[in-house]
Amino acid sequence: MLQIAGVPVDRIVHKYGTPVYIYVESDIRHQLRRFKKVFGNQIGLQYAVKCNSNLEILRIAREEGFELDCSSVGELILGLLADFKPRQLTFTNLFKTQQDLHFAAQIGVQSITADSIEEIEHIAKTAKKLKKHIDTVIRVNPMITTGNYNTRGNKYGIPISYIDRAVDLARKSPYVDFQGFHFMGGYVKHPRVFKAAARTFVKLIKRCQERGIRVKSLSLGGGFPAAIGDEEAFPIEAMKDFPKYWDQLLQKHNVQPMRLIFEPGKSIVMSAGIGIMRVISRKRLGKSSRMVIADGSTYNFVPDALVQEGIKYDVLPAAQMNSRRIHTVTIAGNTCDCWDLLVKGIEMPKLRAGDLLAIMDVGAYAQVMACNFNTIKRASVVMIAPDGTMKLIRRRDRYSDMFGPELDVLKMAGPNELEQYNNLYRVNIDKIWKGTLGKRGKNGKANGNGNGNGHGIKPIKKRTLTSVMADAESQLLKEVSE
Ligand SMILES: Cc1ncc(COP(=O)(O)O)c(C=O)c1O
Repeated sequence: MLQIAGVPVDRIVHKYGTPVYIYVESDIRHQLRRFKKVFGNQIGLQYAVKCNSNLEILRIAREEGFELDCSSVGELILGLLADFKPRQLTFTNLFKTQQDLHFAAQIGVQSITADSIEEIEHIAKTAKKLKKHIDTVIRVNPMITTGNYNTRGNKYGIPISYIDRAVDLARKSPYVDFQGFHFMGGYVKHPRVFKAAARTFVKLIKRCQERGIRVKSLSLGGGFPAAIGDEEAFPIEAMKDFPKYWDQLLQKHNVQPMRLIFEPGKSIVMSAGIGIMRVISRKRLGKSSRMVIADGSTYNFVPDALVQEGIKYDVLPAAQMNSRRIHTVTIAGNTCDCWDLLVKGIEMPKLRAGDLLAIMDVGAYAQVMACNFNTIKRASVVMIAPDGTMKLIRRRDRYSDMFGPELDVLKMAGPNELEQYNNLYRVNIDKIWKGTLGKRGKNGKANGNGNGNGHGIKPIKKRTLTSVMADAESQLLKEVSE
């Protein structure tokens, strides 16, 4: 039996069901501390909320001395809920509505990053309207090439040749307080990329200095790969000399010191997350081809983006770790999309319905990207503390989470009933019960197994879908609390 942080997997699924994500607290803290150790206290570290925004993880990041890189107002709110101070939050994405800017300016975030000339105009307009100064950072595409890495096709940032104009535009507004620059390198596999970026930025900053413009901060973003499939983890310790390298560049170009920031995301949490699924069926597709279908999918559990990138997840037979792997199988997800294949061509022992599978390295960009395709609930999330205690840190979706936004506006439930259920969303299925169930089939025989409803379910008068859902959910809650 696979053990996660000392806890046997069957114990976890007995309590929380499947599919379920398990995060290991000590692994997350270990990664946060590695970054701290390498960069020390003089370089700012901001955890990229987008890769896993669970409040418990944000709390851990705060305890370990990280600030937050937020990409939406939702993430800013999560930061506040996790007890970060507004000045510990930066706001960086490609587009912010006026409302977004209003919110960020009013709470007083550390900075807002402008991704385009249009955004600078937008920030200037909002700041003027609010009569509020907005600390603004300009995101740059430095157009660097090193080895087979280059940023030329990147969608984020203003190309470096336009930056002087962008800075002038920002400084023209009395309410835009220009702070510095931001760079996001996408997928950075080697420290030399950050060094190449640093060389380009130091020249840009020098030019600003010569034009009498003080640059107070530079963020070099995230993008450090985590170990997943055949992908190697970024050697964080190889960045140990980076602070010194940066200082030497500043001295060489006679540039004033500024705050340097990194924004790691997946490298902190990716390997700290394991997804547990159950086999629901198996199929023999010809002589040599075997398929095993799991109760997770590339939509609701481990979204497609990484699978499409060619990343091959490692999947373990969680309850048969010592069994010989005798079959090559494809592990398919449980949605109706034929491309919903979690892993192709993986060696497994003989698997049967009910067996447990562990999909490794799903701590980043999995739970946050999972959707409700096929109107399937997204999984619960459990954190294992260093002492082996299990804690539910996100419950499984409820049907009301999925239908609510539609029922809110379509008003399919009567007002009294809505009140009665205290806004628990319902669809009145009485009509369906009356209209189709309990009827006799064309041949005059009762449908199904003879109890008259054709579905093997006793007709329940006055039963609403809400109560059916509530039953199912209270059952689940009961299981969880047990
Ligand atoms: C601005 C910014 N910072 C940090 C990150 C984190 O990147 P990663 O998870 O690859 O470290 C991202 C990811 O998209 C980003 O857009």
